[in-house]
Amino acid sequence: MLAEAKRRGASSVSDGYRYGCPSCGESFDRAGMRTHMEWHRTPQALREAAMKQMVSCGVMREHQEMRLGNFPAYLPLVRAALDAGKSLLIQGPAGTGKTSLMAAILFEQLMAGRSCRFVLSGEIFREIRGCYEDKAEASERAVIGQFTEWDLLAIDDMGREGKPSAAVCSVLHEILSKRIGSGAMSAATTNLTLVEIGERYDGAIRSRLAGWVPIVMEGKDWRERL
Ligand SMILES: Nc1ncnc2c1ncn2[C@@H]1O[C@H](COP(=O)(O)OP(=O)(O)OP(=O)(O)O)[C@@H](O)[C@H]1O
Ligand SMILES: [Mg+2]
Ligand SMILES: [Zn+2]
Repeated sequence: MLAEAKRRGASSVSDGYRYGCPSCGESFDRAGMRTHMEWHRTPQALREAAMKQMVSCGVMREHQEMRLGNFPAYLPLVRAALDAGKSLLIQGPAGTGKTSLMAAILFEQLMAGRSCRFVLSGEIFREIRGCYEDKAEASERAVIGQFTEWDLLAIDDMGREGKPSAAVCSVLHEILSKRIGSGAMSAATTNLTLVEIGERYDGAIRSRLAGWVPIVMEGKDWRERL
């Protein structure tokens, strides 16, 4: 009840002014705003906000409810990597839960107040290729900037997009290098091994990803279990 009152910004005194909440845009009088901001710091409010961001940052519906607790076998390794601020390479066959685990990691990072972007690997490559077209909407620099600004960049399904050109690989390499250089965390899922990543992309990208913590997922395809 108290939490709900805070959410509404319930108050008995008013100075006549209305204040806009910087987090959700709702407006309150001064005392109402104070209780409303307290509400934003409650676990329930943080969870709701993180869930909204899961949707807005591109996580697909089937993965939105996934939490680290769904992955007990991988949790110690994942937890150690996250606590050390290390990037993760989530590998394994189809349906073993790679994208789900990455979504769970993203949720946790959002709960910790970090900015996150979830993107299909193919989308990154499309954006990079797009900047070389006539009448391109974004420059190469803008595309690189767009993928380097996030505290966590989650790249889904590396290798599914087919073989990219050397020029495109070099831009991806620059994005990864910039992120590594600034200490930002990344995560990627793939069906490929590191050797196959070297063949699909190039040795420089393989070498970057070899420095990430490998999480190798195995077991039966979840899609056949459900
Ligand atoms: N730990 C889990 N508990 C319950 N359901 C799960 C779990 N992991 C994955 N699933 C479910 O299994 C399905 C497949 O998982 P997911 O998409 O994460 O697999 P994937 O390894 O990324 O597959 P692909 O290689 O095809 O991309 C999803 O619908 C997901 O909700
Ligand atoms: Mg997947
Ligand atoms: Zn608010």
